[in-house]
Amino acid sequence: MASPEGTLVPGLEGIAVAETALSHVDGAAGKLVLAGEDVERIAGVVPFEAVAAQLWRGAGSVPPVDTVRAALGAARTSAHGVLGSLGGSLDADDGMDALRASVAHLREGSRDEPLLSRAARIAGAVGVFAAAWARRRAGESVVPPDASLGHAADCLRMVRGEPALAHEVAALDAYLVTVVDHGLNASTFAARVVTSTGSDMVSAVTAAIGALKGPLHGGAPGPVLDMLDAIGTPDRARAWLEAELGAGRRIMGMGHRIYRVRDPRAAVLEAALGRLQDGLAASGGERAARVSRRLTLARAVEREAAALLAARHPDRPLRANVEFYTAVLLEAIGIPRDLFSATFAAGRAVGWTAHVDEERRKGRLIRPASIYVGHMPSPPC
Ligand code: COA
Repeated sequence: MASPEGTLVPGLEGIAVAETALSHVDGAAGKLVLAGEDVERIAGVVPFEAVAAQLWRGAGSVPPVDTVRAALGAARTSAHGVLGSLGGSLDADDGMDALRASVAHLREGSRDEPLLSRAARIAGAVGVFAAAWARRRAGESVVPPDASLGHAADCLRMVRGEPALAHEVAALDAYLVTVVDHGLNASTFAARVVTSTGSDMVSAVTAAIGALKGPLHGGAPGPVLDMLDAIGTPDRARAWLEAELGAGRRIMGMGHRIYRVRDPRAAVLEAALGRLQDGLAASGGERAARVSRRLTLARAVEREAAALLAARHPDRPLRANVEFYTAVLLEAIGIPRDLFSATFAAGRAVGWTAHVDEERRKGRLIRPASIYVGHMPSPPC
């Protein structure tokens, strides 16, 4: 709708408001390029710290991976040190509320400091606050970080209270890389809007966490697992999904604003799950069988959901998105489901902070228009 104030574009669909060198999403082809590489080529291959190094290069050169690893380790240690001064932030019932409130206690520091230190301080803290919230909620003691470990290994260890196996760490590392950045998604946009006003990095990341919490963005994987639990076995998938759609509800983990084909991250995470499955199978036991049953169920549910949605929306492809296999992967490595969105934030915080830097260097105050549909004052008599 055109008006004197501008053209109404609900959801800003198809509107570009920023240039970025961080990631590129091609919705028609189903491609995601992260820091110049296809996501399939780096997730599970290149460590999270190496991808963070690329995204945190800012206007300078790419920092050495060891420096990024050390900065994240130091950030975890320092975040653990402030746990006692977070007030009641970690008492929140919702993990994302706890994360938002805890991160708000951080400070960006002087902008003369290198981007790497400012960004790592915030991104590294996310994993610590998330793990501390989960441990306290489960009535267990908080596990201090081990700065000598990689970020995925330490985050998993802090959540579970014991060191994880190498293939479990590899699965989380692949996940963190897969979600590290994704164009101008809602939370990144929120971070860039806050940054465009001249505000600080902590305020931007706090806003982004608030946006990520919503079920249409990063809040979907917990409900995906609830759905798999409710369906139980592959033979019950079709009837359950039909009833859900018949009641006018959305199928979590399906559909995407940009992708018109299957989200490429779904395939990347499915492949990471396959590797995890192989690793678990080698050590044997009931756990490998449980993960394998879950994956079989998830694949069946995805197949049925895609078929039912295609029949209902022949002109609007609605395929699996990143959240579908996120749920299966994070469950398989022992992350509690109420921590899924906060784990997403642990990866995406690298992207958010990189976008804050980019927005500062290139951006302009983001201030769209609204179209007034209210009453006008009566003309004077
Ligand atoms: N289940 C059922 N129907 C869905 C659906 C889903 N997951 N996703 C979209 N639709 C339907 C909508 O109801 C709408 O139907 P209508 O035209 O009859 O009203 C149509 O498809 C178009 O949807 P629209 O709301 O325009 O899509 P969008 O681009 O705004 O939404 C999502 C994208 C991701 C918000 C949406 O697909 C969704 O809600 N998915 C489930 C939540 C989820 O998995 N979020 C994680 C995203 S990574």
